[in-house]
Amino acid sequence: MKPSRILVTAALPYANGPIHIGHLVEYIQTDIWVRFQKLRGQRCIYICADDTHGTAIMISAKKRGVTEEEFIEAMHVEHQRDFAAFEIEFDHYGSTNSLENRELCEEFWTAVNDAGLVTEKAVEQLYDPIARTPLADRFVRGKCPVCQAEEQYGDHCESCLSTYTPVELIDPRSVLSGAPTELRTHPHKFIQLEKLHDFLEGWTQNEDHLQPEVANYLRGHFLGEAGNPENPRKELMDWDVTRPPEYFGFEIPDFPGNYWYVWFDAPIGYVAATKQWCHQHGEKLENWWRDPATKIHHFIGKDITYFHALFWPGMLKTAGFNLPEKVHIHGFLTVDGTKMSKSKGTFVKASTYLNHLDPAYMRYYYSTKLGARLDDLDLNLDEFVNKVNSDLVGKVVNLASRTARFATDTGLSGMYPEDGGLFATGVEIGDEIAAAYEMCDYNRAMRLIMDLADRANPYVEAQAPWNLRKDPAQADRLQDVCTVALNLFRQIAVYLAPVLPRLARQTGELLSEPIQSWDQAKQPLLGTPVQPFQHMLQRLEKKDVEAMINESKEMEEGPTSTFQDSNAPLQEEPLCEEISFDDVMKVDLRVARVVQAEDVPDARKLLKLTLSLGGDERRTVFAGIKAAADPEQLVGRLVVLAANLAPRKMKFGISEGMILAAGPGGKDVFILGVDDGAQPGQRVH
Ligand code: 2FM
Ligand code: ZN
Repeated sequence: MKPSRILVTAALPYANGPIHIGHLVEYIQTDIWVRFQKLRGQRCIYICADDTHGTAIMISAKKRGVTEEEFIEAMHVEHQRDFAAFEIEFDHYGSTNSLENRELCEEFWTAVNDAGLVTEKAVEQLYDPIARTPLADRFVRGKCPVCQAEEQYGDHCESCLSTYTPVELIDPRSVLSGAPTELRTHPHKFIQLEKLHDFLEGWTQNEDHLQPEVANYLRGHFLGEAGNPENPRKELMDWDVTRPPEYFGFEIPDFPGNYWYVWFDAPIGYVAATKQWCHQHGEKLENWWRDPATKIHHFIGKDITYFHALFWPGMLKTAGFNLPEKVHIHGFLTVDGTKMSKSKGTFVKASTYLNHLDPAYMRYYYSTKLGARLDDLDLNLDEFVNKVNSDLVGKVVNLASRTARFATDTGLSGMYPEDGGLFATGVEIGDEIAAAYEMCDYNRAMRLIMDLADRANPYVEAQAPWNLRKDPAQADRLQDVCTVALNLFRQIAVYLAPVLPRLARQTGELLSEPIQSWDQAKQPLLGTPVQPFQHMLQRLEKKDVEAMINESKEMEEGPTSTFQDSNAPLQEEPLCEEISFDDVMKVDLRVARVVQAEDVPDARKLLKLTLSLGGDERRTVFAGIKAAADPEQLVGRLVVLAANLAPRKMKFGISEGMILAAGPGGKDVFILGVDDGAQPGQRVH
């Protein structure tokens, strides 16, 4: 039965960094599914938002010297710009840092409390004594307590997929400072998921909401099975949903001074973003989240299965919202067979891709690789070039580019000519293609569509319209041949419309009727004008792919595009003339610690600093920073010292070097710091 409404979400990306080609797998996959549903006449909306809370974002904002709100706002703009460029068309793109989300969090919180699911426990949390912050799970790395794999996160192991608490991690270290972590105790609130065990077992195991391998994985790792001695029923762990300060998130009304953990408010963000959409469109939230006639489809990556297949259904059930009809889970992206890597240049940001390549290439290529299972997906760069060129340029667009110009004067024939059953075959295959899209087996859909192109091209070859046009007596025949070729092309363009929306628009313009519905592939288009052929898709050049990879490599350590800095400093003080590497190496820069800092009473600008280069090595430096720095605050700081500068005799004593600072002077002097972990005496390269 046709559902009244379909609500689709993709995972909310963290507002902590730019969108990259790994993210795009999911947003493109979801966008294709939504476009397919819309093309089929379904009432379907695509909802997403930025995931804005948590320690990571708090720290990033601090690093940039902006407020969290300013930071996430800049990301919001950047993310939406990138998605739009890839033709990812959300019906609404919100933010978890919204009033709607805060209110809904309170509603869910009341529901889980009323249901007796919440308990309070003292939690020992890892604390970074250098960065002076409690550490979220992802800021701790150590050895997995289950499989002993090194360098695993605080809450889960990427190697054996176990989950645990950060305290269980072996030899934990802070990702922020590298320091070994300390344990601190603080009260936290937990949701007792085990109380929902029976419900979750039924929902995950019996109702076809999950891919079979996901259901099996949950049964094996978390749920167990009553009466099965091989895999006995397991207890679900209590879920820690609050965090002590400092934290960027929503403060909990009945637990002041504490915040909901980002993973509590993030999925509620799906509902909050829908609420904003409803508000803008005169719709009722109840119809979209509480009416069983609405079907909810979440698309996510396999790393966040636990949250979406156990925690979230439990919350929805308790608060009386619709449960997902389906959670569609995909694998990770690899590039040329390995994990995306910044140093190899394969960690490609969406904006970098767009500097070099057409988004249509990626939408198509990902479609050819995406199946209904959770397998990882490999972007093989050579295959990428070959597939795009041979399929899209060579087989599909070619159908139009080789025939349209011969039909511009006549338009399409009034009756559909004999074509040996080609169009009818395309109609017949349409249901199979639709079924493949429906079950997210885009790979199969693309193969079926390319089969159609493989049948259409020999027809064009055999009829050779370029020869027919030389003979005026063949004018009618030429019009008929072009009518067949262009209809076969259009049928393919309709089937590809969810993947290649621009090609569908161009086809609509070429043949004077917009493509808006799947059923347009069932009837040939007749008698319409054919517009002059405009270029539809460039060949994909290998050199452009290489340029993209090179740019990614170069940008690895460069600034991101989030903030627009003023050009005044460079204008006021232009760069000096070029020097050689050897010139740079002549300056021996060292890390030094300020061990003493004193005012020089008779000097207007100077402070006298005693610097340690480690051990007993000391240097005295007179620095012109009196107006900018408080001597007490300087003691203990690491600075950078130009250590081989010849000693200079000054009125107040001998200065044995220079510490590095930026700024025009006076109050505006900014001393160069060194990240925690560096040792006095180390050379700065
Ligand atoms: O893993 C992530 O990138 C999360 N930001 C996904 C959140 S999805 C949802 F629950 F909000
Ligand atoms: Zn492990």
